[in-house]
Amino acid sequence: MRSEMENDILKVLVTEEEIKARIAEMGDALYEKFQGKDPLFLSVLKGSFVFMADLVRACQLKSDVEFIAVSSYENATVSSGRVKINHDIQQDITGRHLIIVEDILDSGNTLAFLRDYFKAKGAASITIVTLLDKPSRRTKAVTADLAGFVVPDEFVVGYGLDYCQQYRNMPYIGVLKPEVYSK
Ligand code: PRP
Repeated sequence: MRSEMENDILKVLVTEEEIKARIAEMGDALYEKFQGKDPLFLSVLKGSFVFMADLVRACQLKSDVEFIAVSSYENATVSSGRVKINHDIQQDITGRHLIIVEDILDSGNTLAFLRDYFKAKGAASITIVTLLDKPSRRTKAVTADLAGFVVPDEFVVGYGLDYCQQYRNMPYIGVLKPEVYSK
């Protein structure tokens, strides 16, 4: 496939095929855990929209989907630490088994905030699923219940992850060339 973006990519970190295979395993693991429990998949926008679409189709449970939009980076490369809800969910989640779907767990600010937010709203259980885990950058005590890939501390984009709102539509995870973000 032709891509205008690949000149900005230093290296491919996770290929399309690797992502697909891992999501199939993750879908199976969630199926085992949530059979008969009618879980609610909650996509944290914008980054997780691609992963969410593939994950829910890899997990043929009776379930429903919700979307919440939050931001803490405001186009910076380091989290501001303040999580802002730009769009909240539209239903009462009291007593529901929540599966929070993230593209990346980095400092942990976003998921620490969301975990507390939904616990306070009365979720029966909260399960954190992330495609990428970057434990080297963690500042909050958050661990994923299910993680696709552990990644090093490099600037990753693609498959939902952006730099300045771009590169989300690349079908793989790549490392951005430093000259792109140090311009
Ligand atoms: C990214 C990503 C996670 C969060 C992870 O979102 O999608 O939600 O950062 O980082 P943390 O663990 O340090 O909180 P971002 O705020 O960039 O918004 P986006 O999803 O719209 O890209």
